Amino acid sequence: MTEATNDLWQSLPVPAIMFDAGDLIVDANPSAESFLNASLRQVQGKPVFDALAIDAPVDEQARRARDDQTPLFMNNVDVGTGLGAPVSCNIQIGPLQDHPGHLLMLLQPQVLADRLGRAMPVKSAAKSAIGMAEMLAHEIKNPLAGITGAAQLLSMNLGADDQELTDLIVSESRRILALLAQVEHFGNLRPPDCAAVNIHDLLDRARKSASVGFAAHMRLVEDYDPSLPPTWVDGNQLLQVFLNLLKNAAEATGGSPGTIRLRTYYDTALRLRRQGGSAPLPLTVEIIDDGPGLPPEIAANVFDPFVSGRENGTGLGLALVSKIISDHDGWVSVDSGPGRTVFRISLPMASKAQQDEKR
Ligand SMILES: Nc1ncnc2c1ncn2[C@@H]1O[C@H](COP(=O)(O)OP(=O)(O)OP(=O)(O)O)[C@@H](O)[C@H]1O
Ligand SMILES: [Mg+2]
Repeated sequence: MTEATNDLWQSLPVPAIMFDAGDLIVDANPSAESFLNASLRQVQGKPVFDALAIDAPVDEQARRARDDQTPLFMNNVDVGTGLGAPVSCNIQIGPLQDHPGHLLMLLQPQVLADRLGRAMPVKSAAKSAIGMAEMLAHEIKNPLAGITGAAQLLSMNLGADDQELTDLIVSESRRILALLAQVEHFGNLRPPDCAAVNIHDLLDRARKSASVGFAAHMRLVEDYDPSLPPTWVDGNQLLQVFLNLLKNAAEATGGSPGTIRLRTYYDTALRLRRQGGSAPLPLTVEIIDDGPGLPPEIAANVFDPFVSGRENGTGLGLALVSKIISDHDGWVSVDSGPGRTVFRISLPMASKAQQDEKR
């Protein structure tokens, strides 16, 4: 490290941890030391995923970031250090160019949750943002209806030129109303009503509806592992997830043709690490596109509500994906670079009893 980079490393206000090809901690900055409640000397050489109890299959994802040399972003992950309550964090892991096999991990504790200062459940920051937005949506609707009504009344006595303006008020108000409806829909999401489901049936339904609608300009390719066992999910909610991902992939090309690959496979390595154990998440679905990749300035926050890189995007598509998948005890992550973006969803398998359950 040069002196300048060392200064940067020392004063970086977010916990940063560097670890090697064997996932052993090489370096941790002072923020990380206070986050871990341990000195660098104490943690150096220790397995990084033992020092941090991360509520996500992060070790496997880290291996992928290393193999593919692409950065990895995960949001709203509970990270525990063994002391106190776990903290909800956004995590970024990236390869280090000059140190083959080494990865750098940045942890961003969620400020909103901290600021509210209460003991909050998992994924709380996103939830409370949505709660506030819902309240706001409700409050905005009534005055907006008043404004629209008044504009319509006004327009009756106006000449054509001025009517254009009142029409604008009405059409823009409608757009706001549609956005508010989406926000409310988000808040009203019910707990999943699960059944044993063949994931390929859902993917097929999503693919068909995409191919005649928003993804008509795209080539949709199936790459399924037909032997995949059933998963335990709410079919309608999962369908929404796949549609949102396909829609984003189709929109990413900006109207030019492209290819979207729907891939499924069984991955025994992926486990959800929790404090006190881990659960397997073997069923993996990937939606892969060959578009330009996530805009770098929003890449770290795409799963947050209201983060959008599109002119008319509401930024709720991926927030909904993240919420639905976490309600299913599953996991979603994204690897993205120019020419290849992969949204990867990992889901639990339906148990024998669940598969036999008659509904
Ligand atoms: N496959 C992708 N390739 C490139 N960028 C993507 C991809 N998927 C998402 N993004 C980026 O992430 C942003 C957030 O996506 P999200 O679905 O949450 O919101 P949105 O598409 O902007 O709006 P909405 O889905 O609510 O209509 C998008 O605006 C886009 O910039
Ligand atoms: Mg979207």
